[in-house]
Amino acid sequence: MRLYIIGAGVIGRTHAETAKKLSEPIKLRVADTNPIALAAFCDQFPEAIGFTNVEEMLNSEAAENDDIVIISTPPLAHLDPTKLSLKSGRHVLCEKPLAMNLSQAEEMVQLAEKHDRYLGCCSVRFKGMPHMEAIKDVIRSGCLGDIYHVTFVNKWERSRSGIEYQPASRWFLDSTQSGGGVLMDWGPYDFATLNDILHPDVIEINSAWVAKPITEIDPSDTPFDVETHVGASMTYICDNQPVHVHYERASCAHSEEYVRVEIEGTLGSVRWTPFDSRQPVFKRYDKQGQIVEEQVETGPRSEFTIFDNPLLHFYRKVRGLDSHANVNQQVLNNFQCITALYNAAKKSEKQTIDLVQKGVII
Ligand SMILES: NC(=O)c1ccc[n+]([C@@H]2O[C@H](COP(=O)([O-])OP(=O)(O)OC[C@H]3O[C@@H](n4cnc5c(N)ncnc54)[C@H](O)[C@@H]3O)[C@@H](O)[C@H]2O)c1
Repeated sequence: MRLYIIGAGVIGRTHAETAKKLSEPIKLRVADTNPIALAAFCDQFPEAIGFTNVEEMLNSEAAENDDIVIISTPPLAHLDPTKLSLKSGRHVLCEKPLAMNLSQAEEMVQLAEKHDRYLGCCSVRFKGMPHMEAIKDVIRSGCLGDIYHVTFVNKWERSRSGIEYQPASRWFLDSTQSGGGVLMDWGPYDFATLNDILHPDVIEINSAWVAKPITEIDPSDTPFDVETHVGASMTYICDNQPVHVHYERASCAHSEEYVRVEIEGTLGSVRWTPFDSRQPVFKRYDKQGQIVEEQVETGPRSEFTIFDNPLLHFYRKVRGLDSHANVNQQVLNNFQCITALYNAAKKSEKQTIDLVQKGVII
């Protein structure tokens, strides 16, 4: 199988590492408009054929039915290479966030469907991890009773992409290149996770807000106009039942670091750390009027890491195997959660995403 990586930066290299773990030999091609980034990639992966021009790479050989292109450029440069790749007859796995805005995302999905190709998104990085599957088993068992509330809070004190994390990639801070801040950066994982677990028919974003706490090291030599703290009050309608979701995500906050994800039902609750599979999963329920807390068995750790999962899942989808990949309308629905949350914050208006009307189960 052939894998074409567009964007030879940090995440492009992790995808190339994953390619070595797939169950068949992978021929690697890579394109980056920056010759220095390209040369560094080709030093690390000497088996790769490198190009400084994306079209030249895609036109260098006829497409085969199982060719996969990974788009690992900054969000501003997701649309054009995705279009070129789909038009060339190849499946595309795009890094998160899928696009800069909803109309770009719609255009990408329409093109994938027109060319009968899969368009996937790397927002599924946490799907299929043993601890996530264990949570789904707990829910399916019915032991939580009627689920009515979810807390999904992940607040880090200082973890801004482009400042504390990966400071060389300043584009994260500039909305004209990144599309937005922590919601564009982490929201795709949050919604892919929440939607996988709750399977909503409708998502109502009742209210939302974005904020940018100030620090003494905020850069002034580069555009920095993105939010680093975001929150929403949402209602997920699942099997005609409302589930109230408190959502918060921060890469910079002046409050204490706080990470808590918990599902509460009439008979019990379950809590876990979605983005750290080493942390235990706990179930709580009542026994004779007293709380009982038990650790949930999550089975052996996966041989694949969260960095492997997007390509692993997409590869399995293209090969027709059972897969946790999200493709086409599913990736559009997940991306729409992000844009709807921004709209709710900007317009101070409730936003509704009707997934049943779209005929797609997430
Ligand atoms: N860094 C991470 O930990 C991480 C994790 C998950 C997802 N992502 C996502 O991956 C994408 C890339 O992030 P990154 O951290 O690897 O960025 P990066 O800055 O390390 O690398 C981006 C690369 O893309 C190249 N590029 C830019 N425009 C291009 C174009 N039009 N054609 C070809 N190459 C082009 C740049 O030269 C650069 O080498 C983003 O969407 C990001 O959100 C990053």
